[in-house]
Amino acid sequence: MTESVESPKPAAAAPRKRAPRKTAGAPSAPKQPPNTILVDGKPRYFEPAPQDMDIEAFRKVVTSRRSVRKFTAKPIPKAVLDDCLDLAMLAPCSSGLQPWEFYIVRSADKKAKLVKACMSQLAAKTAAELIVCVARTDRVESFSKQMLRDWPMPDVPPLVKRYYQLIPYYYAPGPLNSFALVKKAAIAAGGLVAPVPRGPYTTAEVQLWAAKSTALACENLVLALRAHGYDSCMMEGFDEVRVRKLLKLGPEALPIMVVGAGERADDGVFWPQVRFERALFVKEV
Ligand SMILES: Cc1cc2nc3c(=O)[nH]c(=O)nc-3n(C[C@H](O)[C@H](O)[C@H](O)COP(=O)(O)O)c2cc1C
Repeated sequence: MTESVESPKPAAAAPRKRAPRKTAGAPSAPKQPPNTILVDGKPRYFEPAPQDMDIEAFRKVVTSRRSVRKFTAKPIPKAVLDDCLDLAMLAPCSSGLQPWEFYIVRSADKKAKLVKACMSQLAAKTAAELIVCVARTDRVESFSKQMLRDWPMPDVPPLVKRYYQLIPYYYAPGPLNSFALVKKAAIAAGGLVAPVPRGPYTTAEVQLWAAKSTALACENLVLALRAHGYDSCMMEGFDEVRVRKLLKLGPEALPIMVVGAGERADDGVFWPQVRFERALFVKEV
């Protein structure tokens, strides 16, 4: 640690209590002053890293997660699924902009259509729950504004304010990527003399931007299901056109995967897990 911590740790050094998730339209609670400590004489936000972690419990969740293709008929309790979705949405996300959406398909008719759109895969057919995970590219501006409104400290730092004011312009591809191409050319010129962010500018790049964070939320979702004793199968084997039609998704919404979830059947995992030797993937440079 290079910074000197001048004040003793405040009594509130226990893990931070998360504010309850706001319901849409609910009035904002007054902003509480955050826990702070003095670092080099300046008050700094203080959120200590809990030390009582259980790596073996985490390892068990990660190593016992398998893609399950056959589920029992046991339903997932609503509270469990809600908790898993809440944990999914704590995944890291680019600029904190939460570009995901989760459609829990409950209507029997829609579910039957979704199973069909998933090519009638057994994982979809037998799943107690089918969740379509969607990346949204069109909420950058509204969520940037919301971020400034919901900023969790009494004052928004000027740099943060500027950042969220600029992002909507930065991420707007414009008609037929026209803004994107101009921005790309200007930034490429700047990039000759200094490191610059190379995107996302085009529609495809913004889609990739939203897909990355959404996929991280999907991973949180399946790990949370496993931690609750349930299982899942991520599926990208679906007919995107049919899924779009079923959920009435516009071009601003990109279905990333369908997650089938439920209780693992005894013969729900079809073969042992295969991972190639780590030297193929891990490089020390
Ligand atoms: C993005 C993604 C898409 C996938 N799509 C399907 C799918 O459509 N159907 C399926 O049975 N499994 C699907 N899988 C599961 C993979 O086949 C599985 O993760 C892989 O074989 C490794 O097995 P494991 O998950 O048990 O470790 C998908 C996994 C990912 C990450």
